Amino acid sequence: MNHADFIVVGSGIAGLLTAWELARQGEVAVLTKGRSDAGNTARAQGGIAAAIGEGDSAGLHSRDTIRAGAGLCAQEAVDILVQGGPEAIARLQRLGTPFDHGDAGWALTREGSHSVPRILHARGDATGAAIVDALLQRVSAHPRIQLLDHTTVLDLIIHKGICTGVQVLDQQGTLRVLPARAVVLATGGCGQVYRYTTNHPVVTGDGLAMAHRAGARLMDMEMVQFHPTALAVEQNPMVLVSEAVRGEGARLINDRGDAFMDRVHSWGDLAPRDVVSRAIDREMRKGSRVFLDARHLHSFSTRFPTIDRLCRSHGVDPAREPIPVVPAAHFLMGGVAADTDGQTSIPHLFAVGEVACTGVHGANRLASNSLLEGAVFARRTAVKAAKLPWGGHPVEASSEIPSMCEHEQVRASRKQALQRLMWEHAGIVRDHDLLLKGMKALTRLANETPSSDWECHNMICVSQLILKAALWRKESRGGHYRSDYPEAKAEWAKRRSSNQRGAASE
Ligand code: SIN
Repeated sequence: MNHADFIVVGSGIAGLLTAWELARQGEVAVLTKGRSDAGNTARAQGGIAAAIGEGDSAGLHSRDTIRAGAGLCAQEAVDILVQGGPEAIARLQRLGTPFDHGDAGWALTREGSHSVPRILHARGDATGAAIVDALLQRVSAHPRIQLLDHTTVLDLIIHKGICTGVQVLDQQGTLRVLPARAVVLATGGCGQVYRYTTNHPVVTGDGLAMAHRAGARLMDMEMVQFHPTALAVEQNPMVLVSEAVRGEGARLINDRGDAFMDRVHSWGDLAPRDVVSRAIDREMRKGSRVFLDARHLHSFSTRFPTIDRLCRSHGVDPAREPIPVVPAAHFLMGGVAADTDGQTSIPHLFAVGEVACTGVHGANRLASNSLLEGAVFARRTAVKAAKLPWGGHPVEASSEIPSMCEHEQVRASRKQALQRLMWEHAGIVRDHDLLLKGMKALTRLANETPSSDWECHNMICVSQLILKAALWRKESRGGHYRSDYPEAKAEWAKRRSSNQRGAASE
């Protein structure tokens, strides 16, 4: 790799757009541990929210975002997000995203908790893939951006309190130190710590764990969003059945054909995600299966070609039979505490997209605000990072190359044990005893895991942060539901961050 002024870790919408903007000011390296097109952005179906349609406004979008966020949204971050929507869409379109259009302009759909149709989509239900394809084409042709796939960042390098670079295992398996003026984490969330997840297998919380090890503050880690409707087929990752399917009129029913959401929330099937996921979970605990009935939708296969293909590949024809669904871990509202310019608590270290916690999503993210978050905050992060001078010379953190000699099967079963543990102890419904048992089991797993299994150690670290935060919050709010404290309480309408030394601030 040649010299780089800026290092971006991750190649989803947030990482690629940050790299694109940073390249105006210097050389950029985008590092990604798998293929460049691996990750969650390319799996996003429903779309990207923006107050762009007739009758919509930033004010309405803000109201919906804050209502979904259940009292924990940071107003400034929300204002920036919703006001930046139309410009972000224009930029993505300029960079080549082929957003779908209808007879009267943009094709806009509705999703849960949105008061108006405001979800733009591309290639029907392949919005994320269309965005990644367009951005990768631009970024990989840019003379000042190097796209380095299969390059694993093991740790951040902190020298005199400043982030001065990263330590990586390159494609040849060589351990290297890469210095930079600024490092931007855009590694996404951590859905893979759960047994059932819609997240791509590379999404193991590495950026969160390395920021924590480096001493950065993390925030709201108990706030995990479970998507209500993954195809009920045992596989990892699970097939997402987009909320846009309900936005177009599909109904959730139990195995008696009862559309139970009508009794749960005044918005019925389009209630906030946490409400729908818990309602499905309750039906399942009563012994029922849950289905998404889309048989009455016109042209399902044209509007949702990806979902149609994936359902059929598992023997389900959405035009003829209800789709069996279950909730699955989907998004982390918490993350590395960052201001609205992506600045973390460590100078020269930035976080953008799902890995960051600006407070924009509060306790529960509004559907299709995640791609928008990546697009809006990428630009601000790049503008801020580009102004930084060199922070100092990196000091090599370690010269030990993690040994990969352990059998792949051993690693896989260790990872599965962790995923089961998290699903059972820190899933949709939590309580004190479960969380505590989970903590103990994680400590045992950490002790048994060799240091060479750095990915599993990252997953354990993130899981511990989730459990610890979930034990702290003695109430239920948004994505965090505790059966021993089932109500939201006014005195808990607060957020907490903590760093590696255990220092917590509210
Ligand atoms: C979906 O299409 O349902 C997922 C979109 C999102 O997570 O915002």
